[in-house]
Amino acid sequence: MAENDWWKKSVVYQVYPRSYQDSNGDGIGDLPGLTSRLPYIKDLGADVIWLNPIYKSPDKDNGYDISDYRNIQPAYGTMDDFDNLLQEAHVLGLKIMMDLVVNHTSDQNKWFQESKKSKDNRYRDYYVWRDPVDGHAPNNWGSYFNGSTWKFDETTGQYYLHLFAEGQPDLNWENPQVRDEVWNVMKFWLDKGVDGFRMDVINLISKPTGLPDGQKAPDGKYADVGKVVADGPRLNEFLQEMNQKVLSKYDVMTVGEMPDSTPDDAIKYTGLDSHELNMVFQFDHVGLAGNDDPRLGKWSDKKVNLVELKQSLSKWETELNGKGWNSLYWNNHDQPRTVSKFGNDDPKYRDKAAKMLGTTLHMMQGTPYVYEGEELGMTNVHYKKLSQYEDLESLNAYREFVDDEKIIDKDSMLKYLSARSRDNARTPMQWDNNKNAGFTSGKPWFELNPNYTEINARNQIENQSSVFAYYKKLIELRHNSDLIIYGDYELLDPEDEEVFTYKRRYNDETLLVISNFTDKELTRDYNQSAGKLLIGNYDDDRNMELRPYESKVYLFK
Ligand code: NOJ
Repeated sequence: MAENDWWKKSVVYQVYPRSYQDSNGDGIGDLPGLTSRLPYIKDLGADVIWLNPIYKSPDKDNGYDISDYRNIQPAYGTMDDFDNLLQEAHVLGLKIMMDLVVNHTSDQNKWFQESKKSKDNRYRDYYVWRDPVDGHAPNNWGSYFNGSTWKFDETTGQYYLHLFAEGQPDLNWENPQVRDEVWNVMKFWLDKGVDGFRMDVINLISKPTGLPDGQKAPDGKYADVGKVVADGPRLNEFLQEMNQKVLSKYDVMTVGEMPDSTPDDAIKYTGLDSHELNMVFQFDHVGLAGNDDPRLGKWSDKKVNLVELKQSLSKWETELNGKGWNSLYWNNHDQPRTVSKFGNDDPKYRDKAAKMLGTTLHMMQGTPYVYEGEELGMTNVHYKKLSQYEDLESLNAYREFVDDEKIIDKDSMLKYLSARSRDNARTPMQWDNNKNAGFTSGKPWFELNPNYTEINARNQIENQSSVFAYYKKLIELRHNSDLIIYGDYELLDPEDEEVFTYKRRYNDETLLVISNFTDKELTRDYNQSAGKLLIGNYDDDRNMELRPYESKVYLFK
């Protein structure tokens, strides 16, 4: 195994710049704001920052619709601000990984503006255009953001493909010119000195030959496009070309976001001999506890079943061991807050639950990702009214399921949004208990979670028993342990519905991780008294006893 890869030893901190720190009072987080917070990220112990898109964009999907790949969104600052951020980060020993969004562009991108002008425009073939079939869309694919994936364009009488929103037309990767454009964009940023890319939905770039219909969900109008498009016929080839023409020339870190991918896919793209990507973001564990009605997909408020969660995470841990590399994450800008979804955000338990979840994930094999505010135990915002939501995925889903198709009632959908909406992750970072949590001196672009008066960085930084201090310790433990980085993984209690216990093994050392996922007092005997306690989220160790959301890690030599 190549054990010198720095990205295997790193911990990544994800910054959603819009919600991190505003520096100029316009209510929107920006690059100078983030630069001013670099010492905080360094203090936490992270090695790499994954920066969500900061490129010029009409912001229909908060930056995931890029109109100019080589310029900065004015609300975030200027290219000088970016260069300064990169420089300051490097001075502190922090790396910056950019978001690369090249499955699609914005419909305001120059390429698309040209492409839609006429069928013989030189940019026409940069996108996927098709004639109507019997007066309708060319196939039955349903967009990730609801409705069809096809939008009719009057000018040329053809449909264009958009797997996401209408304002996010898909690039045609079959066209070698498109690929060259993408390689050039990548080189532009790499030559500035950025340290890697998180590649947005990268396993969707190669569309299946002939764009065939997919299987519709029962009673559904559309086919689940992920099932038809993910892992397309030329994906491997495109990624190899990317590696050969660009990535192999730089010492960088890459993670491919891959909805619907399996461990075998991940091995194919991240395998030690494949020369493509370093790791993938898979979706199995965050996709658990969806709705029983398949038409509603992720929209539910069900609690995750621990047996299924363990099965899912353990499958990835064991199948990639020695063959590929995992990314470890509980949440990001597209997921509800960890402690609310997998733990318990009741003030009585949230601190312990946040630490327990952190322990469970950070002791696994892979590169851990911490999403801004997770290190403070930030919770879902639990909005009560639709008007409080901003995210287009949430609003589209409400419109389709409640208003148009009347599949569910308003109150149930509001409960589902409160449990699962992406907006839960996007409320501004909670820095202190001053007005607007220290995020902005102006009017914040998005309502804050009112619990910032209790959950905030200032309260936690100096407090040795805070979630922040605990995450710091978890990260420090990883940095100093080959066992935590490279050890083999074994799940010890697949049938236990309350506790998650696993072992890691490396040379002669063993790590035992025990986490109580309930609010109950339990007893479990794993001979823990023979080991040395490395970290735990209660002040004392009561050996076989497990208190609510207790988590402990023991070392055996
Ligand atoms: C995945 C991104 O994480 C999400 O925020 C975005 O909406 C879609 N890809 C489309 O780019």
